Amino acid sequence: MRYVRDNIACLEGYTPGFQPKEADFIKLNTNENPYPPSPLSIKAMKAACEESIRKYPPPLADDFRDAASTVLHVKPEEIICGFGSDDILTIAVRTFCDQGDPVAFTYPSYSLYEILAGIQGAQSLIVDFPEDFSLPEELKDTGAKLTLLANPNAPSGTLIKPSTIKTLAAGLAGILLVDEAYVDFASDNCLRLIRECDNLVITRTFSKAYSLAGLRFGFAIANPHLVNEMMKVKDSYNVSAPGMAGAKAAIEDQKWLKKNVDQIINTRKTLSAGLESLGFHCQPSETNFVLAEAPENTVAKELYQRLFENKILVRYFNMPRLDHCLRITVGTDKQIARLLAVLKEILNEEEM
Ligand SMILES: Cc1ncc(COP(=O)(O)O)c(C=O)c1O
Repeated sequence: MRYVRDNIACLEGYTPGFQPKEADFIKLNTNENPYPPSPLSIKAMKAACEESIRKYPPPLADDFRDAASTVLHVKPEEIICGFGSDDILTIAVRTFCDQGDPVAFTYPSYSLYEILAGIQGAQSLIVDFPEDFSLPEELKDTGAKLTLLANPNAPSGTLIKPSTIKTLAAGLAGILLVDEAYVDFASDNCLRLIRECDNLVITRTFSKAYSLAGLRFGFAIANPHLVNEMMKVKDSYNVSAPGMAGAKAAIEDQKWLKKNVDQIINTRKTLSAGLESLGFHCQPSETNFVLAEAPENTVAKELYQRLFENKILVRYFNMPRLDHCLRITVGTDKQIARLLAVLKEILNEEEM
């Protein structure tokens, strides 16, 4: 007897980046931030544990919504919070797609989109990015109920201009969800479009620029009408009291965020330049990682393996268009110097 729904039984499930048990790895594989979060955030989480852990948290995370609305110049009613932005993506797919409905997204991009569509029994419409990762023309013509677009994109790190996204939103019959997980490292964002596009949902996370991946806190900004509908779908208590307190303090500490982001952007330049000088070809990154095509006559999977043997973890995707690349998270200057030195040694050995 089959107990499981057919579309779950045939689903592979998401494969998260490897999390080694040993602490001696240089971990550049899951786009975590190498720097600590705001000390005010840690303090607020500790206080929330002491003061309010006995009680259920406020279901809508009101304190966070108020703080974020002030910082981002939006209304609290335009914000919905979640257990990481992955939770918001799940809520969106469940809110906007019936079984069999088309869900469109680009390739290569965040592989979770296809899995979420599969869980819902929706139909995935995959539109290939052109070589330069500009917006694929066909994305506007899919007729999808929901179009998911990571911007900046992962794993390419590339950014599509908000003006182009505005035109896309205006041309779509369904919802456009712009996943801005990496936007704090980028030169522009789509937030200003939410008042102009009533079919736009923007998702953000505390996992990357805010150094709080373990906290699991994300949120979306959209028209209050859409937010209200998504509220019906979310779990009642989908963020914890310490989570809400930590995220609130973190978003209020924009000075800390800026210092953190500036450091990453500086190191990103060193990383891209260093990789290019070793013969890699890098996509222009607006994120905290770089997608680097391995030098001619080398095999990306072997480079990944050799780095692994040297206790350096990067991300290798055994997938079309990515299998000749490495995706490397921007670490500290010291970590990136070590990565570049080891890569140089490996490439020199290969030449002999
Ligand atoms: C494009 C993209 N969106 C969303 C997420 C998920 O972020 P969160 O930790 O907020 O669930 C990731 C995580 O790596 C990502 O790469």
